[in-house]
This record gives sequence, C-alpha cells and structure tokens, in this order.
Amino acid sequence: MRQPVGKLLLFGATGDLAQRMLLPSLYGLHADGLLPEGLTITGTARHDHDDAGYRAFAKTALDEHLPADRQDEAAVAGFLDRLHYHAMDASQVEGFAGLAEKLGNISGGLAIFLSTAPWLFAPTIKGLESAGLAGSNVRIGLEKPLGNDLKSSREINDIVAEAFPEDRTFRIDHYLGKETVQNILALRFGNAMFEPIWNARGIDHVQITVSETVGLEGRAGYYDDVGALRDMVQNHMLQLLALIAMEPPARFDGTAIRDEKVKVLRSLRPIGPAEVQSETVIGQYRDGAVNGEIVRGYVDELEKPSNTETFVAVKAHVDSWRWQGVPFYMRTGKRLAARQSEISIQFKPVPHSIFAERGGMLQPNTLVIRLQPEEYIRLLVMAKEPGLDREGIRLREVPLDLSLTTAFASTRRRIAYERLLLDLIEGDPTLFVRRDEVEAQWAWIDAIRAGWKANDMKPKPYASGSWGPTASVALTERDGVTWNE
Ligand code: BG6
Repeated sequence: MRQPVGKLLLFGATGDLAQRMLLPSLYGLHADGLLPEGLTITGTARHDHDDAGYRAFAKTALDEHLPADRQDEAAVAGFLDRLHYHAMDASQVEGFAGLAEKLGNISGGLAIFLSTAPWLFAPTIKGLESAGLAGSNVRIGLEKPLGNDLKSSREINDIVAEAFPEDRTFRIDHYLGKETVQNILALRFGNAMFEPIWNARGIDHVQITVSETVGLEGRAGYYDDVGALRDMVQNHMLQLLALIAMEPPARFDGTAIRDEKVKVLRSLRPIGPAEVQSETVIGQYRDGAVNGEIVRGYVDELEKPSNTETFVAVKAHVDSWRWQGVPFYMRTGKRLAARQSEISIQFKPVPHSIFAERGGMLQPNTLVIRLQPEEYIRLLVMAKEPGLDREGIRLREVPLDLSLTTAFASTRRRIAYERLLLDLIEGDPTLFVRRDEVEAQWAWIDAIRAGWKANDMKPKPYASGSWGPTASVALTERDGVTWNE
C-alpha cells in the first residue's frame, strides 16, 4: 500500500547530484502533477542560503539541466514554491533541533533523502534521532556509496538500522529506476516464450557491458578511492545480473522480487586469489581520443600516480541448477570507445543444422537489451536472403526490433530518479536494494579485491577511445566468445 508523505527533506541539497538529477526529477514529477498536493521539499547543506536563495539556486539548476521545452514558467514557479532551505553542518548534532523547527509538523509523514559524503551518515542519523526526525512515519533514502567493503557497509547499515528499520530504509541504485531495466521483468515474466529456454539448456552465455566515454568528471577524490569494480560492478551491474538470472518471483512486490534477487547474489561463485588472474581483467586509461576529442590519461587527469582500475572485466558464474556452466561476462570502464549499456543474451546454437550441406551458415540467436543511449530490445534471428538459392542457401542474421522509444513515442522518458524519488515519497520499496542484497554484493566484490591484492594485480594500460585492455578480449575469446560491439 502506497502511503505518501507530506514532506521531503534533502541532505546534500546543493550537491552535484541535487543539481543534475534530484531537482530536475522532482520538477518533472511536480509538472506532471504526481507529487502529493502540499508536499514541501526542504533542502539542507552547509551553503548559506535562505528559502529565496535556494529557490534561485534551484532555478539555475533547472535552467542548466532541463531541456528548454520541459520548462513551463507556471510549473517552475509552482515547483519553486514547494522549496525551503535550512543551512546547517550535519556533522554537528546541535544543528538538528533547528532543522526540526524549520520542518515543523511532520505528522503527515517525512521522507528523507541522504546524498552526502559517507562519513556524514553516522552523525546525520544521530542528529535525526535526537531531533525526533526518525519516528515511525519517517522513511530514509540512502544514496551510494554505502561503504567501500562488506565491513564498512555493515557498519553503515547498523547505524541506519538503529534509527530506521529495514522497511523504512530505501537504498538507491539508480539503475533500478531506468525503464529498460524494469523492462527485463516485463520481458521475462510477461511473455511465455522466453522462460522455457532461459537457462543453461537454452542460453550459451550472457554479456553485460556498461561502457562510458567520460573520464573523472571532477570526481577524482571519490573515484580514485573506489575504482570501476566498486563504482559500477558492486551495485549497478550485479543488480542487472540478478534481474537476468533470478527465478520468477511469486508476485510483483518488494519482498518477492528482492528474495529472488538475493538468492542469485548469494549463488555467485566466489572469485578469489586462485581465480582472479584468469577470471578478471583490470585496466587504466592512458591518453587517446574519444569521439574525435584528444583526452588525457587517468594519472594525468588525477595529477598523481595511481593503481586504481578504470576498467574491469569479470567472468562470473551463478552456481544454481538453472545457470550451471553459463558464463556471465561483465565489463565496464571509463573513456571507452562509446557510451553503451546493454545486456546481450546469446542462446545455444540449433542442435542440428539442416542448412549446412546447402551452404547455409547459422548464427546462434542473440537477445540484446539496450539500456542506453537508445532503449531497445532486439532479437537477432536467422532469415533467408531472398533469391532462388541455386548456389546454396544464404542465411542472414536480421533483427526483430523493439525500439522502446518508438513503441512508446508519446510517453516522456523519465530520469531514473523521478521513479525512485516518487517511490520513496509514496513508500514503495520494490525498486530499492535490501540490506541482504547489498551485503551479498559486497561479499563477492571483497573476495575479488582480496584476490587482486594477493596477486599484486595492477591495471593494464588501455588507450582512451578503445574497448579496454586487449586482455579483456582474451578473457572471452578463450571461451570462443566475442564481446558484442
Ligand atoms: C554512477 C557512477 O553510479 O553511475 C558513475 O558513480 C557513473 O561513475 C554512473 O558514471 C553511470 O550512470 P548512467 O546512468 O549514466 O549509466
């Protein structure tokens, strides 16, 4: 049951995420009439704004990050009216009484969104508790990073759990807010044709690629401590893998879906010191050209030496009856040749080809789920080229194409955060990550990192604008598999 709150409180209200994503998303919801009537949005951060100053700040963020045709003057004014601001230092518990005063009556429910540096989590939670802002009608949304290994993630989860029970804790993985990611569920469980072959008998392997063309984007401090494995694989890519590999849930709700995802995450075969050399590849970008533009290498951008990986490829296995012997290849990196996020599922070849002796070559079917930049689902099937076939049958792979953008042309594509913020405000936990999921993700990631350390593995250089180190090609080619590009 959805239970909308009457107030939203944003920590980190002047940060980069707030400007690029949160304010534009909240505006989008407001403009479409989706925010509860009377919902107020209070921002807090250390910057010294008053309400008017924050409204001006938010207006600038909207001007910069929203396409002009989405900015309706009346809607913007109405949205800015919802905004309030309270300047404070969240590390000082004393400041929270003033925040509570600013918020006033929260009997209509309060949703809090924490997008701050991880070291502020503990004092913030304490401060909220001390000011009576953690009662049973308050829920909290947590933006990553939630720790940097299993131990620190448990510590954060414990601190949060002291004030907010799990059913009021909403951990954000913004990939779960993406339409095409949710479409994995619709595709798998809304159609009868895939599920019978969605297993080791029907599927040869799965590839998950999230390639980016951007470099550090001014986030050097954060990124260099984290690296590609923890920035992207630990969260987004393992969530994608879980959605692809999960058993059919009994119903569409947060408990059933997350129960099934966590089973997958716990069934990931550990990759440790003995396996990392053969099952993982790490890289770091050097200078090169991306989309025709000359860019500097990672350490030049960083201005100090570093062994942080900006690329990682992993060959994973899910140890279950369904997936025995099916590799899940994942790769992600910065400064790669193209911005492209997709899942590609390669089915097994036909058991016997009747075309071979007539010269016809077959390719196994592939299902491509493209998340970005375009959104589509494409099934590659074999078809006969038109002709009389006197010199043999010519077969060609052709796409059965579902462009989600075209099929739903009249529907605006929303920012992932619109969905997640609305679900937080209304209290639907389905698309948020449960504690047991996060911890299973970290346990698997920690083992890989321990393996790298034990083997003293250093990232291999790759040119910006390439598809990563050549060793990543070898990782799949050894199995006779080529990355989809
Ligand atoms: C974030 C990572 O979680 O996801 C960034 O911290 C990355 O490094 C981003 O660029 C990618 O998100 P998207 O939605 O652009 O694919």
